[in-house]
Amino acid sequence: MTPPPAPTMAAESNGAAAVHGGHRRRHVLLFPLPFQGHINPMFRLAGVLHSRGFAITVFHTHFNAPDPARHPDYRFVPVPDGMSGPAPVAIEDVVVQISTLSVACEAPFRDRLAAVLEEYSRDAVACLVADTHLLPIVEVATRLSVPTLALRTGSAASFACFVAHPMLCEKGYLPVQESQRDTPVSELPPYRVRDLMYIGKDGQGVLCELLARAVAAVKSSSGLILNTFDALERQELMDIRRNLAVPVFDIGPLHKFSPAAESSLLRQDRSCLEWLDTQPPESVLYVSFGSLACMSLRDLVETAWGIAGSGVPFLWVVRPGLVRGCAHQLPEGFEVATRGRGMVVAWAPQEEVLRHRAVGGFWTHNGWNSTTESVCEGVPMLCRPYFGDQMGNARYVEHVWRVGFEVGGELERGSVEAAIRRLMADRGGAEMRARAGELKKATAECTGKGGSSCQAIDKLVMHMMSL
Ligand code: UDX
Repeated sequence: MTPPPAPTMAAESNGAAAVHGGHRRRHVLLFPLPFQGHINPMFRLAGVLHSRGFAITVFHTHFNAPDPARHPDYRFVPVPDGMSGPAPVAIEDVVVQISTLSVACEAPFRDRLAAVLEEYSRDAVACLVADTHLLPIVEVATRLSVPTLALRTGSAASFACFVAHPMLCEKGYLPVQESQRDTPVSELPPYRVRDLMYIGKDGQGVLCELLARAVAAVKSSSGLILNTFDALERQELMDIRRNLAVPVFDIGPLHKFSPAAESSLLRQDRSCLEWLDTQPPESVLYVSFGSLACMSLRDLVETAWGIAGSGVPFLWVVRPGLVRGCAHQLPEGFEVATRGRGMVVAWAPQEEVLRHRAVGGFWTHNGWNSTTESVCEGVPMLCRPYFGDQMGNARYVEHVWRVGFEVGGELERGSVEAAIRRLMADRGGAEMRARAGELKKATAECTGKGGSSCQAIDKLVMHMMSL
């Protein structure tokens, strides 16, 4: 395929615009949702678009603001978000915060966008890419005649669940009834009721609204960008394209196109890479539950003793706030019991960890980024999903791609120990690792020259230039 033209402007227009090779560059404006799992893919998208010649302007909230010093090539525009007090911890609070924050940003964003448009000139701006959860931001841009694209940072299958949410309520799948948890959702295979997004009866109203607004954001945009790819979700992508009137760009996994995102909110402890260097190939279990999931102190203790009892070398991310409501303490004696065999860090350079030859398994919460990062490196997974799309992602890992399995039920040290051994030492685990290796190859084809994701990026760039 012929590479798309560099995004430069044919004619001079008023106002400041970045100059690139003697041409005026076109600007792409970005507005990420300020949570780690959403910030990372948005910054990777920024990296992709910047490498294709676009100038990048990032609008951002004060909450979880990026560090402009780490991105000297981008312009940053802070938008007051009306937030005060500590970051939310419970998932119901996160859902409420997303809505509150996007509404609070609406008026200040309008003023700042208007100022930016005046400065760059309207013609110099190609479009705004906003997270699907920022409908008010999409609406402001539309009112100011700026074309928008929506970035959905999760899987195509999870977005299909957003679209299907009213139907799932109408047909009685939701709210989840305890007795129905294992019932297959025949309209959305391979999901079972337990795999659907659900935050309890009290949260049903806000969740419905959140998902409906995300779908509205996509439908009122000029396209949907998905951080997924053909090797993982061919059928799901076909279904979405059939059901949506806007073009869909499956350009993932974005971290493979723009690895140095520099968008980590916590400092990554790189000393674990040196420790991994000392470990035999595929011997280490990497354990991380992402940036938001919380566990009880009891579960932390059972997890710790399960890891200790398995005898398997491990690297465990115990981030601040992992245990709700207490400065988590690993159980007394854990350090002594595992000395020389494991490492605990507050935050890791995850992509590099998963790429490390010493890592042979990933115990994950199945956030979409963690899931795709693991898939890309051929690392099989132990799944312990907590909320949102994580249960659905775990279902795909176990049932569709067959590169891992879920540790379900109450966490007990004995079952944790057995699950770790199954993944790391048994034949079953070896088979999953072999399939993960095949999926890694298929992924590399998507991201390689002429692969489906490369083609989608070319199409996206051309689309942005045509808006
Ligand atoms: C949240 C939701 O939990 C998830 O369900 C949704 O798909 C995206 O938003 P989060 O908990 O942040 O995700 O998990 P995930 O999507 O996996 O993103 C975490 C990111 O942080 C990954 O890119 C990962 O590489 C990075 N990370 C994680 C680190 O850099 N260091 C760590 O120690 C752990």
